[in-house]
Amino acid sequence: MLVDFIAGARPNFMKIASIIRAINSRKIEGGKLSYRLVHTGQHYDENMSGSFFAQLGIPEPDVNLETGSGTQAEQTSAIMLGYEKLLMEAPSSLCLVVGDVTSTMACAITAQKLCIPVAHVEGGIRSDDWTMPEEINRVVTDSVTNYFFTTSETANENLARTGVSEDRIFFVGNTMIDTLLDNADRLKKPDLWEDIGLSEKDYFVLTLHRPGNVDRPDNLADALRSIGEGVRGKAVVFPVHPRSAKSLEEVEGLPENIFFTDPQPYLEFNFLVKHAKGVITDSGGITEEATVMGVPCMTLRDTTERPETITVGTNELVGTDPDALSPFLDRLFAGEWKKGAIPEKWDGKTGERIVASLERILCR
Ligand code: UD1
Repeated sequence: MLVDFIAGARPNFMKIASIIRAINSRKIEGGKLSYRLVHTGQHYDENMSGSFFAQLGIPEPDVNLETGSGTQAEQTSAIMLGYEKLLMEAPSSLCLVVGDVTSTMACAITAQKLCIPVAHVEGGIRSDDWTMPEEINRVVTDSVTNYFFTTSETANENLARTGVSEDRIFFVGNTMIDTLLDNADRLKKPDLWEDIGLSEKDYFVLTLHRPGNVDRPDNLADALRSIGEGVRGKAVVFPVHPRSAKSLEEVEGLPENIFFTDPQPYLEFNFLVKHAKGVITDSGGITEEATVMGVPCMTLRDTTERPETITVGTNELVGTDPDALSPFLDRLFAGEWKKGAIPEKWDGKTGERIVASLERILCR
């Protein structure tokens, strides 16, 4: 039985790594499933893709669709055309997609139209914010998904509300956290640590890449000024996503305590998060990693599809108005940030649960 594992963009790679490890372990014990790793090529740089494969021990993709950059429709259609051709020439028994990127949605639709069942890892989460391409990707993907591997009870409830029957929902936990726990002892101090002169719990990590936050240079500059002033002179390390880099080319006069750097490899990035005083971000995945590492996290968005990072974890929703950050920083500097706990089943064994469920689904 051949299962396609789809990976296309940076946040997919750490999610798929744990499932690959689990399926390989099962194979040694006589497991009957094989996989074909399909990289759509949505992210293609060494910084955004190659370094993750190397550091996380992900094997070379069996197929690379090499679709590259483009508008939402261009990327979606290029991925669909490439994946359809592959499935017509060499069909698989199931298509497993992860997360909420364009590759996730494009491959799920393509497989289902060829009557190949779809499994969605991280299914069921919702921000209800239709300005985010990821939310559209989630809803469309889930509408053509047969089997849902979920990270939270909230996701299970969201799916149940849309009429998905219980036997199609597998509450397994979080594969991104599998990878984090697996690599906890391998995290690496980046060279910039000495270059900037960082010290433990005395700096912030910042990431911004959502179109709403970064596509307008003046908005991005306002947010950065507000952050630079708000952190009371502490250093802010900002690994710049290519989308944000474009806007930054057009702005000047940014705070000197913000250090701009290339996107960091996985081990270096999580080292920085682990030892930071706080994280300021508009990413979803980083709020999960900060929660597990117990690091205070401030999310510059109005909604989250990962409410457990707030109700259980160390995350708070700040909103997109840069001035809204101030009371949160006050609380952090006063030493009054909540401690947080680990959400249910985020225990490092999610990949194994997924592979065991796939065996039951496909080999019965
Ligand atoms: C995508 C995902 C988002 C995810 C993010 C992580 C969608 C809808 N969005 O957004 O959910 O959080 O990735 O990075 O799928 N680029 C490069 N090198 C690369 C890849 C992209 O320079 O390897 C450039 C592109 O040319 C483009 C920009 O980065 O100008 C944005 O890339 P794109 O893949 O369109 O979307 P992201 O904003 O990265």
